[in-house]
Amino acid sequence: MTRDPFTTSSPQIAASILSADFAKLSAEIDDVLAAGADFVHLDIMDGHFVPNISFGPPVIKSVRRATSAYLDAHLMITEPLRYARAMVKAGAQNICFHVEVTANPAATAREIRKLGCNVGITLNPATPVEMLWPAIDAVDMVLVMSVVPGFSGQKFIPEALTKLREIKKRLRPDQRLEIDGGINAQTIRAARDAGADWFVVASALFDHPDRAAAVAELRAALP
Ligand code: DX5
Ligand code: ZN
Repeated sequence: MTRDPFTTSSPQIAASILSADFAKLSAEIDDVLAAGADFVHLDIMDGHFVPNISFGPPVIKSVRRATSAYLDAHLMITEPLRYARAMVKAGAQNICFHVEVTANPAATAREIRKLGCNVGITLNPATPVEMLWPAIDAVDMVLVMSVVPGFSGQKFIPEALTKLREIKKRLRPDQRLEIDGGINAQTIRAARDAGADWFVVASALFDHPDRAAAVAELRAALP
């Protein structure tokens, strides 16, 4: 059953399928959800905004058929408005775009919201938080990147903690703050203390020999 992560303020573990075995994606998703992950994070990469290509609407559609879990799409693409509709139609429930790709992030957020989904905004490690302020009231969630996007398995950039704290101060209680990149049992606590609600995890979950133990370790590290 879809559990909407906006309906809870408890910390949520988002399984990023970027580190899954795509040849058996349905089984991989079932496995990490059974292990205790709360919802699915979809990393969409276009080979332009980031130097990697992942997948697009056809795969989202298959994932939608494979699970009823909430689908959170992180668009690492230069033209979010060109593709958002197809992604929502395919089953994405949150569309999170990068602030770096638009001159008017509030307008971009409003356009995406019209598609009937949740909307989020995110920023690269090198982008100052001030870039978000014009759009902060127009989004449901903010994603702080704690690695340079493009690949899973990178090391957590601690400067992201300062960003989390600054953004959290500006969010309403109904908005959520997500952190993505290098989250594991060693880094999750500091991110929680800095205000993160949702924790994206790829390698620390999919590469763990025991995924239930991986989720348990992440939750045990939280206060
Ligand atoms: C990075 C992606 C992340 C990535 C996280 O470009 O946005 O979601 O899959 O991977 P880990 O958890 O391994 O850092
Ligand atoms: Zn991501």
